[in-house]
Amino acid sequence: MRSLIERLHREHTLSPDELRTLLVGCDAEHLALINQKAREVAYSHFGNRIFIRGLIEIGNCCRNDCFYCGIRRSNRNVERYRLDKETILSCCAQGYELGFRTIVLQGGEDNYMTDERVVDLVSSIRKAYPDIAITLSLGEKSTEAYQAFYQAGANRYLLRHETHNEAHYQSLHPESMSLQNRLRCLYDLKKIGYQTGTGIMVGSSGQTIEHLVEDILFIETLQPEMIGIGPFLPHHDTPFASEPSGKMEQTLLLLSIFRLMHPKALIPSTTALATLAPDGRERGILAGANVVMPNLSPVWQRSKYALYDNKASMGAEAAEGLRLLEEKLDAIGYVIDKSRGDYEN
Ligand code: 5AD
Repeated sequence: MRSLIERLHREHTLSPDELRTLLVGCDAEHLALINQKAREVAYSHFGNRIFIRGLIEIGNCCRNDCFYCGIRRSNRNVERYRLDKETILSCCAQGYELGFRTIVLQGGEDNYMTDERVVDLVSSIRKAYPDIAITLSLGEKSTEAYQAFYQAGANRYLLRHETHNEAHYQSLHPESMSLQNRLRCLYDLKKIGYQTGTGIMVGSSGQTIEHLVEDILFIETLQPEMIGIGPFLPHHDTPFASEPSGKMEQTLLLLSIFRLMHPKALIPSTTALATLAPDGRERGILAGANVVMPNLSPVWQRSKYALYDNKASMGAEAAEGLRLLEEKLDAIGYVIDKSRGDYEN
């Protein structure tokens, strides 16, 4: 096990069989070792600096019906909202004032949010803040739409593939969705020139070690600039309400594997990880993550963007809680880096 970890550190890759062995057999002692190696790799590229991204949840209306997600279309118990342009721009202003130089617009796949409206929104933000990075996380769109958003000034796009296994993908999503289209989107985004993020939920219903190996290999092929991984967490109003949460240890192991395979990738310590355990965010950083994404959305709607139960959005998860975040990072020897934090080759 030790020699596998050392080789992954040195060569940034392992065979599928070796990955399987690592995923199955990594005990607490070896988890500590791989977390340490991953932390060292992150340190060698980024020092003790953690990039921050201001997350604006622009709306929870969604045409999709993903079985795991709290804002799925058939959940009648969510109060739906949509931020207007003015509100989004004022969130950006607040974020800019606080020092954020990346803003992330995330939302459900909302029919009201036409490609034209997204272009208009991105152009307005770009005009007002020429120096920030604009990241979109708005789901599956047409090639032309991705191109138009890019031309309007978007720089990055987040779209998790969720699982690279066809049958597993279908077991998490309704028939109207396909892995093929998800992958088409990701290849489009890369080709257009976006810094592209993908990733998975760890411990999603039916996920096996084989699936995880496939995910690792897919990410190795795609070479995304950003890799988002967090534990699956159940939401009470979904078909997966009584599924168990993903495990902290497995999430940290995967985080470290991704850091060792993609030394310069931007890897967030996710809100889901911070929700799973009070020290989750810190543990993610100590396993090789180098990004956190505090919430810049208006406080009055944060609880409505509940992808899973008990989703953290206040305290150190909140943009206005930067001081608290700073203290928490300081306690583990890290500082906030307020620069754009683009992917650098
Ligand atoms: N638990 C954890 N993560 C979730 N996501 C959606 N629902 C859940 C859940 N129940 C993640 C998906 C999606 C991202 C925006 O949030 O991976 O891509």
